[in-house]
Amino acid sequence: MVDPFSSRPSPKLIFGNGVIKELPGEIVQLGVKSLLLVTDPGLVKAGHVEKTCALLKEAGIGVHVYENVSENPTESDAEDCCNFAKTKSFDGFVALGGGSSIDTAKACNFLLTNGGRMSDYHGYGKAKNPLLPFMAIPTTAGTGSECQSYALVSRDGSHEKMACGDPKALARLAILDPEITNTQPRPIAVQTGIDALAHALESAVSSKRTELSSMYSEAAFRHILRAIDDIVDCNPQGDDRGHMLLGAALSGLAIENSMLGAAHASANPLTARYGVIHGRAVAKMLPHVMRFNEGVEGAARIYERYSAILKEFGISSMSLIDWVTHLTGRMQEIDITADDSEIRELASEAKAQWTGDFNPRPVEESDYVELYRAAFALPKPA
Ligand SMILES: [Fe+2]
Repeated sequence: MVDPFSSRPSPKLIFGNGVIKELPGEIVQLGVKSLLLVTDPGLVKAGHVEKTCALLKEAGIGVHVYENVSENPTESDAEDCCNFAKTKSFDGFVALGGGSSIDTAKACNFLLTNGGRMSDYHGYGKAKNPLLPFMAIPTTAGTGSECQSYALVSRDGSHEKMACGDPKALARLAILDPEITNTQPRPIAVQTGIDALAHALESAVSSKRTELSSMYSEAAFRHILRAIDDIVDCNPQGDDRGHMLLGAALSGLAIENSMLGAAHASANPLTARYGVIHGRAVAKMLPHVMRFNEGVEGAARIYERYSAILKEFGISSMSLIDWVTHLTGRMQEIDITADDSEIRELASEAKAQWTGDFNPRPVEESDYVELYRAAFALPKPA
């Protein structure tokens, strides 16, 4: 028997090498005449911004460029983009970049059309006015933000990650062009790739999972599996970029419909406190959270099915959890040491993360203490 569910919409997805050429036609169809393109200095340097602007101008579409996106955007970063936006005239947004560019564009869209600060939108469905049409062109394969109606923005000061969601914030269109991800620096591809894998695995067992989100999670896992070994080796081959980009987007759709879990809830404080890159923080916590979740029958059954997929692909005869432990162990170690009192503070911050509420096994603050102790190989105090 299938449990009842209600699905969230998806952006129109256009996938394939070179499909960025379809952007102007799609924009015209949406009735947008002039855009604010939100991006970061790295993409300006890589030449992607110039090429995209030329494509748009050729089609008679006006474009203003905001190129100051910072990693892990804060409330102030969103306001900086909005202050720039207020000086320009445009009727649609396009984000060209990784999760930070996509989140900054979404956040700017909230502020420009509805006012206030990003903390006013923490949660879901708090924007009263319509938002401008928004399109996303991810240049990294990881966050899946192009398929989600949430902007992840850090609170000024505490750096707490706030998920600010609204159905109106969802992209109308996501252009998934693997060729654009070719300039992604390889270490970034490793971090974002592991993040995408974590999205597939956490959404697969989330307490909010549905028949549909489970399909997205498994399809994402299968695409990511085809490429992740090469990506972690910093040696992408053939279709690896395409599999990762599609896998990341499908994981994003899974999250949109099922949310995440305790690996993200415990990773976010490591980023907020120590500045650990998101993918590395998630990689550090994921195997321990999976072992914790194995105690729940529903999750254990899904892990078993995914272990069978590993065998089917001829990737490993290890169990899924052992394989994830092995894979994440190949990443560069996080250079922080947390003592017992810091671990207690981290655990309290993790418990406050909304995303942990969807973990298949309820996680108490004391469980987060144990998860961090396991991750940092700290012995239990006598
Ligand atoms: Fe993530």
